[in-house]
Amino acid sequence: MKTLLLTGATGFLGGAALEKLLKDNQGVNYLILVRAENVQQGLNRIRANMEKFNINKTTLDKLTPENILLGDLSEPTHFLSDTRINTVTHVVNCAAVASFGNNPLIWKVNVEGTLAFAQRMAQVKGLKRFLHVGTAMSCAPEPGSLVAESAEFEETAEHLVEYTRSKSTIEQLMRQSCPQLPLVIARPSIVVGHTRLGCQPSSSIFWVFSMALMLRKFMCSLQDNIDVIPVDYCADALVMLLNCETLDNDVYHISAGEESSVSFADIDRAIAAALEKPPVGDHYAQVSYEALLQMRRQLKDIFGPCNERLMLKAMRLYGSFAMLNVRFSNEKILKLGMPKPPRFTDYIACCVQSTRGLSIPQQMVVDFK
Ligand SMILES: NC(=O)c1ccc[n+]([C@@H]2O[C@H](COP(=O)([O-])OP(=O)(O)OC[C@H]3O[C@@H](n4cnc5c(N)ncnc54)[C@H](OP(=O)(O)O)[C@@H]3O)[C@@H](O)[C@H]2O)c1
Repeated sequence: MKTLLLTGATGFLGGAALEKLLKDNQGVNYLILVRAENVQQGLNRIRANMEKFNINKTTLDKLTPENILLGDLSEPTHFLSDTRINTVTHVVNCAAVASFGNNPLIWKVNVEGTLAFAQRMAQVKGLKRFLHVGTAMSCAPEPGSLVAESAEFEETAEHLVEYTRSKSTIEQLMRQSCPQLPLVIARPSIVVGHTRLGCQPSSSIFWVFSMALMLRKFMCSLQDNIDVIPVDYCADALVMLLNCETLDNDVYHISAGEESSVSFADIDRAIAAALEKPPVGDHYAQVSYEALLQMRRQLKDIFGPCNERLMLKAMRLYGSFAMLNVRFSNEKILKLGMPKPPRFTDYIACCVQSTRGLSIPQQMVVDFK
């Protein structure tokens, strides 16, 4: 029987992975890393997140206080001395500061704490797999490209945000300093919504598309493509990578790839159909960030009460990613037996439905922690 140490289960991807594992009813002993004052509070935090996935009570009751490992990756020494860690056979490491903002903990958690965790796990004799969740964007991709998985990173690569730099650095450090770690890296592309629940588990990133269409202008062209997957597909792929006894590779994209990526024009049409409105279409203009800056005074009229500085910062950061027009090859994970991912536009109506009544500033809070 597996003893699984899961991190990040109060978050979007880790929550979806835990829901999938609990629902599959696989024989797993869970040890779940949570930040909390005490074990009961930790369990309550996990339960609250599972409820966002509509998990039923009987399934939820499988988790008990014994499954909780209290700990914080910014101060890992304490939880790393817990002797239960010596019995762990599998790790799924979803925890990270996943923010495009200037969170001062990005480096401490995503690099220093994660490295200490990996080094500790490398000493666990029975450990069979350490599945680390990276990000496809950590390779600082060339605009317009179809990116293949590679363990090599360009030293001089320019990162748009500190977050992707931290994610690229930790992958390299784990490889260098933990050669005995049974490391497999999953690199999801852009995770938006859930195929049935839309943005109920998290409104992360969905607001960017709504924001651009409300502005009728943004930094990308409507012809640009974007590689988006739903969180439930991502969770299915993570569980597959966890359970496969042998893997031919140690880096896997979890992505839409060339076939299932969509253009911003497709997204415009699908959102319009869900809202029963005409698409923005020809009224849309591709503009520079400077042009968006000049709209500063109109932002409150368009979006309601908002922090103008934060809105502009969001436009600059997410606009730069939207302009990349990259897709991430998903050949390897498809070869492993994963079905093709659904297109973003196939389930976008659920995302629209689940964010009705929420303003853009309310939806974007999750991405600026
Ligand atoms: N979302 C995407 O589009 C996407 C795409 C590619 C890759 N990824 C990767 O997927 C992983 C999860 O991202 P997400 O979108 O699920 O983010 P998220 O919703 O913000 O969840 C982050 C998780 O990490 C935990 N965490 C943060 N700081 C911690 C600390 N100091 N100690 C222990 N746990 C800590 C959080 O716990 P608290 O609840 O206590 O804060 C939460 O459970 C990240 O590694 C991210 O790089 C995400």
